[in-house]
Amino acid sequence: KNDVPTTIVVFGASGDLAKKKTFPALFHLFEQGLLPKRVSIIGYARTQMTIDEFHKRATSHFSPDAKKDSVAAFLKVCNYVSGKYDVDADFQALRSEIDGHERAANISNECERIHVYYMALPPSVFVDVAGQIKRNVYDETCTNRVVIEKPFGHDLESSRKLSHDIGALFDEAEVFRIDHYLGKEMVKNILSLRFANVFYEAVWNRHYISNIQITFKEPFGTEGRGGYFDEFGIIRDVMQNHLLQVLSIVAMNQPQSLGAEDVRDRKTEVLRRILPLQLEDTMLGQYVGTKDGSKPGYKDDDTVPKNSITPTFAQCVLHVDNDRWRGVPWVIKAGKALDEAKMLIRIQFKDMPNALFPKLARNELVIQVSPKEAVYIKTIVKEPGLSTSLAMSELDLSYKTRYHDVKIPDAYATLILDVLNGDHSNFVRSDELDEAWRIFTPLLHQIEKEHVQPMPYEYGSKGPDGVYQFVENRAGYKRTSL
Ligand code: BG6
Repeated sequence: KNDVPTTIVVFGASGDLAKKKTFPALFHLFEQGLLPKRVSIIGYARTQMTIDEFHKRATSHFSPDAKKDSVAAFLKVCNYVSGKYDVDADFQALRSEIDGHERAANISNECERIHVYYMALPPSVFVDVAGQIKRNVYDETCTNRVVIEKPFGHDLESSRKLSHDIGALFDEAEVFRIDHYLGKEMVKNILSLRFANVFYEAVWNRHYISNIQITFKEPFGTEGRGGYFDEFGIIRDVMQNHLLQVLSIVAMNQPQSLGAEDVRDRKTEVLRRILPLQLEDTMLGQYVGTKDGSKPGYKDDDTVPKNSITPTFAQCVLHVDNDRWRGVPWVIKAGKALDEAKMLIRIQFKDMPNALFPKLARNELVIQVSPKEAVYIKTIVKEPGLSTSLAMSELDLSYKTRYHDVKIPDAYATLILDVLNGDHSNFVRSDELDEAWRIFTPLLHQIEKEHVQPMPYEYGSKGPDGVYQFVENRAGYKRTSL
């Protein structure tokens, strides 16, 4: 597969996403010898720049210890075309550039070729650019793949419109909707943990599991992104996509195979069984500046309206109404400007039905996605030594100690590799997306219509008052100290 001549066009090549994620990921793959041998990468954006300026920008987020020779070799395959997003002639010029490269490399249009169009673009130009690609760049003699990034609409209706517009231009098989959480090592690991070990599946249901928490915490606010964020809010930014995707993998039944459609069928089945979220099951927050004034509040950002009620924190209880999960609360929590950086899945088991040891705490299986990849099981043991008491300990698989010499790739690198291989398993299918919006749209509309006020919480805190009581009261979560 590595032999198929491939052209990758990165639209929005001068933007933040391309700089911070797409180009570093492409370079990582290049360095590892994982990009096709005959690859040509073309950046496309509105900014007029020389090739040197473009190269400087594209490498600005490479790791400082990137080898100079490899960077130079990588840049040899990276070119730049500047053009508008709505001008036919500019896209025709792009097509000529692609054809020119192929001719120069003696690649005939009769041989197998792949063209990847990676849209690192704001949603306002998605559909225009997709239309331009189809009209002026799309080459029917090769395999075409279009990569798009969230936000995919802002509610069910707008997402359906977007899917319809994109669907009118490209086959679903040509479309790769990125949710970068699906490329994270520990998220990819969930399937292996669940279905390659005999003991997890045995207890993976409502008979043994009391509640599940999926938590995303960031220690920084929306600084610099206030304008974008205010239109979306934390529910659209993180929950409706990243956290719900993770939930669907934790909750799914075993797929027939690891094939993309089998996996996505099972995930979609789970989403179909989730009832739309209710306001009573939701806690919303918005951060305010620290008392000492060292950290700003959300509304201190000049790009955020002073009367904004956009939540920067949300915690919700969801229910998957199927035989496996009926009655088990799923708590998803996401927040900006909290006390730490953490993304994890905490599966809390039920009380031990046993009177042999009184007052037992509950077992938990924790899958930590970031910052440090780990899987651990909170397990009760006899306190070591002469004591006969019990202690809470962990069966701990920390990747840092167990796999210290393995470099965990960035999610974008694994996802781009999947695109090159034509593997859709870690991309969001349009029906999955539809279900995800169905779950959140009524709540989002209600919040907007009724101007539901978020609760304030201080920058760097654990969230609004009552954040833990909410999980204890609403989800039956019990603390696990003995
Ligand atoms: C993005 C959100 O999709 O994910 C950001 O738009 C968020 O607001 C980011 O910060 C988190 O991704 P990661 O990989 O840093 O956990």
